[in-house]
Amino acid sequence: GLPERVTIYEVGPRDGLQNESAIVPLDVKAEFVSRLVAAGLPIVEATSFVHPRWVPQLADAAELVTRLDLDGPTPLPVLVPNERGLDRAIDAGCRHMAVFASATETFAAKNLNSGLESQFAMFEPTIGRAIDAGMEVRGYVSMCFGDPWEGSVAPEQVVRVGTRLLDLGVSQLSLGDTIGVGTAGHVGALVDAFTASGVGVERLAMHFHDTYGQALANAHAALRRGITTFDASAGGLGGCPYAKSATGNLATEDLVWMLEGLGIEHGVDLDALVSTSVWMAAQLGRTSPSAVVRALGQS
Ligand code: HMG
Ligand code: MG
Repeated sequence: GLPERVTIYEVGPRDGLQNESAIVPLDVKAEFVSRLVAAGLPIVEATSFVHPRWVPQLADAAELVTRLDLDGPTPLPVLVPNERGLDRAIDAGCRHMAVFASATETFAAKNLNSGLESQFAMFEPTIGRAIDAGMEVRGYVSMCFGDPWEGSVAPEQVVRVGTRLLDLGVSQLSLGDTIGVGTAGHVGALVDAFTASGVGVERLAMHFHDTYGQALANAHAALRRGITTFDASAGGLGGCPYAKSATGNLATEDLVWMLEGLGIEHGVDLDALVSTSVWMAAQLGRTSPSAVVRALGQS
């Protein structure tokens, strides 16, 4: 059967806003995070301590987190690529963070100015020092299904990268379909490859982008394999500025609507979430790509 409850890991303020061409004002970002917390999202990824020249959209990370309740009941993790980012996150008072690895050589170069092997030299001291500082560290793996430059990515390659991160001490692996090319059968094969190598489903989260409209079907396939943590972004915001073919994430509203129908607990107030996404879309000057937001947002 399907799990009784799932945890939704909200990435809108980070994955969503990193990809906006306009820079969203600090007040709007802070209000966005607060409204998501108020809507019951149990964890909200707030921003990134990456190089401000690489992602100018989130260059105000340190200032943003001073507006947030970093010690409150809702964890507000931040993205951290390296020790310089860790120093900035620690100085700002962050308690939860995520590193992001690539499953492919090309994307490690494009996104991290690194390589498939050399990325671990960056992550090892970053994760080690973060754990010593008492932080909880999540590990993303990007390009887990396909890569715009290298094509289809074999599950074994993803397992190799993912288990290296687990060995370095990350508490959870989030498997990213960065460009949204995955399909339900491939999801099953990837989860099975992790299980076969001894990594249980309780250590895994799925991070789907909806480029090909498969994100919800993929989430259902993962649910059937027993996955209980799903990344999603309010209103379907998102993408990666270093992977041109990436569009928004699985919309949190689409996921919540499906979970409601399946009777799976999630703890999110759908009305509060939809009005947050409608408000955010107005801030950005366009409508949400989520069909659920459009359907419910009009009533
Ligand atoms: P680099 O240029 O190789 O950095 O970039 P470096 O280590 O050579 O340092 C160069 C200079 O940058 C130095 O300053 C550093 O101090 C500074 P200088 O000594 O010359 O004055 N520096 C920094 N400053 C502020 N914060 C930092 C930082 N690091 C170095 N953190 C780097 C390497 C990793 C920094 C760069 O490639 C980068 O920032 N990449 C981030 C790209 C990114 O954010 N991509 C989007 C997020 S990933 C994603 O969206 C996928 C995901 O959603 C999952 C999925 O969908 O699959 C997570
Ligand atoms: Mg992403």
